[in-house]
Amino acid sequence: MKIAILPGDGIGTEIVAQAERVLGCLDLEFETETAAVGGAAYEAHGHPLPEATLKLAKEADAVLFGAVGDWKYDKLERALRPEQAILGLRKNLGLFANFRPAICYEQLTHASSLKPELVAGLDILIIRELTGDIYFGQPRGRREAPDGAFKGAPEAFDTMRYSRPEIERIAHVAFRAARKRNRKVTSVDKANVLETFQFWKDVVTEVHAQYPDVELEHMYVDNAAMQLVKAPKKFDVLVTGNMFGDILSDEAAMLTGSIGMLPSASLNESGRGLYEPSHGSAPDIAGKDLANPLATILSVAMMLRFSLNQPEAADRIESAVRSVLAAGYRTADIWSDGCTKVGTRAMGDAVVAALSGTTAKTITKS
Ligand code: IPM
Ligand code: MG
Repeated sequence: MKIAILPGDGIGTEIVAQAERVLGCLDLEFETETAAVGGAAYEAHGHPLPEATLKLAKEADAVLFGAVGDWKYDKLERALRPEQAILGLRKNLGLFANFRPAICYEQLTHASSLKPELVAGLDILIIRELTGDIYFGQPRGRREAPDGAFKGAPEAFDTMRYSRPEIERIAHVAFRAARKRNRKVTSVDKANVLETFQFWKDVVTEVHAQYPDVELEHMYVDNAAMQLVKAPKKFDVLVTGNMFGDILSDEAAMLTGSIGMLPSASLNESGRGLYEPSHGSAPDIAGKDLANPLATILSVAMMLRFSLNQPEAADRIESAVRSVLAAGYRTADIWSDGCTKVGTRAMGDAVVAALSGTTAKTITKS
C-alpha cells in the first residue's frame, strides 16, 4: 500500500508530521512518498501542483494532505495560487464525494460556542459534492456586461451548473452512508431561487425511490444554516453541492468545539481518496507548535477505513484520540480550565503513547 504525503503550507508540515508518526506505530506495512504542494511547491518548482506531485497522487492508494495557502500568494495570478493545488487534485483524481463528519467529543462539549446541551453527543455527517457547481462551472471570467442596467460596465461572472449523473452519484453516496447511520438524509438546496438547485432537488428525490428505508427531507440552505446552530442534533446526513457544502461544513465544524478536530475524506468512483483536515493552513500560527494535529490524525483513521481496508487500525486511532482527550490533553484551540495545555508535537506524543497502550508520561516539553 502506497500513501502519497503532501504536507503543503503553513501548519500543514507540522500536523502531517504527527500523523506520520501515528501511521508509523500501527504495525502495518506502508510505503510513503512525500511531495511538495501548494505555496511550497510554487516556491520550489514554480507551480502549486507540479506534474510529479500529481503523478504520485494518481499512483498512490491514498493521499494524505495537510493544508495549502498563505496570504503572501494572494497577488499571484489565480492559476498559480496554492488553492489551485487542492482544486486540481480534486478534479484530476475525480474526488467528487467529500465526507465531513462533525462529531462533538464528550470532553469538548464545553469548548463549543453553543450551549453544551445543544451539542452533547452530536454526530452528523456532511456529504459535499466536490467537483462540480460554481467552483468548476464554465464559462467564468471578466468581461464587459453584455446587457442589464450596467451594460458595458466591467463585470465578473461564474457559472453554477450540475448535470444529472453528478447529482445522482452523490445522492447514492449519501443514501448509502445514511444506511450505516440513522437512515436520514437532508438534501440542502436553494430550489426556491436557483434552477440548478431545483434540478438538484428533483434528481435527489428520484434517486431516493431506490432507498425507501431512508428518510429524505429537503431544506433550503439558509434554513439549514439556521438549523445547524438551533438544533444540530436533528440532522444525520446532510448532502449538498460544492458551494453550500463549503460554507455549511465550516459552520458545523464550530459546533464541535474547534475546526482543529475535524477530519475529511474525498473519494472517487473507485474508493480511492484524499484525506485532509477540514481546516486550512493557518499561516499565523505556523511553526509555533500551536496547531492541533488531531484532525489530521483522525483523517488517517478515515484513510485506513475507506481506502486501505484496515478498519481495526482506524478504530484504534479513534479510541486513542478519545483517551488522550479523556486524559485532559488539549492544544490551545480546545483548551479549557483544568486541562493540560500541550503543543502540536506533545499532542502527537500523547496519541502515539495511547496507541502503544502506555500513558503519555513521556510528553515532549513544548
Ligand atoms: C475547503 C477549502 C477549499 C474549498 C479552498 C482551500 C479551495 O475551503 O476545503 O473547504 O473552498 O473547497
Ligand atoms: Mg472550506
